[in-house]
Amino acid sequence: MSISDSVPAPGGPADESPEKLHAFVRELAQAAGELHLSRLTDPGKIREKAPKDLVTEVDLLSEELLISRIRERYPEDAILSEEQGGEISPTGRTWLLDPVDGTANFARANPLFCVCISVAEGDRITHAAVGAPRLGDIYHARLGGGAYRESASGKAHPLRVGSAERLADSFVGADVSYRGSNEPRKNGTLEVFKRCWQVRSLGSAGIRGAWLAAGYLDVSIGTRNTAWDYAPTALLVAEAGGQVSNLTGGPWTYDSDGLLATNNETLHAEALEVLATGEG
Ligand code: IPD
Ligand code: CA
Ligand code: CA
Repeated sequence: MSISDSVPAPGGPADESPEKLHAFVRELAQAAGELHLSRLTDPGKIREKAPKDLVTEVDLLSEELLISRIRERYPEDAILSEEQGGEISPTGRTWLLDPVDGTANFARANPLFCVCISVAEGDRITHAAVGAPRLGDIYHARLGGGAYRESASGKAHPLRVGSAERLADSFVGADVSYRGSNEPRKNGTLEVFKRCWQVRSLGSAGIRGAWLAAGYLDVSIGTRNTAWDYAPTALLVAEAGGQVSNLTGGPWTYDSDGLLATNNETLHAEALEVLATGEG
């Protein structure tokens, strides 16, 4: 995956405004959510594609739905999607897709799952939506246009990060799964847990990021390199007034090994300092 600074005009309808593109992103989240709900207790065949990493029939169907609609409307755009793969375009527009985030939850009808849809132009995420249909919420953001939670009634509530400035006052979201490089003892995550107020492990990186933007969490730690999981967090949190970086304080990029998101600079600096105490 590579990033370029140059951002030429993207493909798609010539007169497309950012608002129209954004409306389409939300429509996609809605459509994927309807599919998820229609199969809530019927995930179909479940396969373990890697240890502790599931894919259901609904992941594949949701991905097909998203990709076919994007291809129909924006045939020139690049797509990077979790199950089908793809590339990030170095020069044009790219769609980053996680057709079901929180598959292990979805597979047992736990309500904490979502679809993650992001639009990237060069190194910027310009649009993002996290649709959590079982919660009745679509969290979405447009670069420079703010972040919102849209409830099932269609009402849009602006998102604002929380006010905690110290780990000791913070709710920390992180998924702890003991596998390979995601081993939490090695990256300082457990030390953050020790120093915070409460820990939340949701099983969905997309919802975790959206909940930070909404002020339900104060710190979010993601320790994998999966751009489709973290791109929505990067935009939602920035638009809701928070801070985003990689796990050592540099800019989060598509190639980063993880993402740290927090409410503000003070809390971010403390979380980075504690993460750095990990064994590496
Ligand atoms: C997973 C979830 C989970 C996170 C894993 C992801 P998936 O995504 O976001 O919260 O801890 O790292 O792989 O596989 O359900 O799309
Ligand atoms: Ca995911
Ligand atoms: Ca997924």
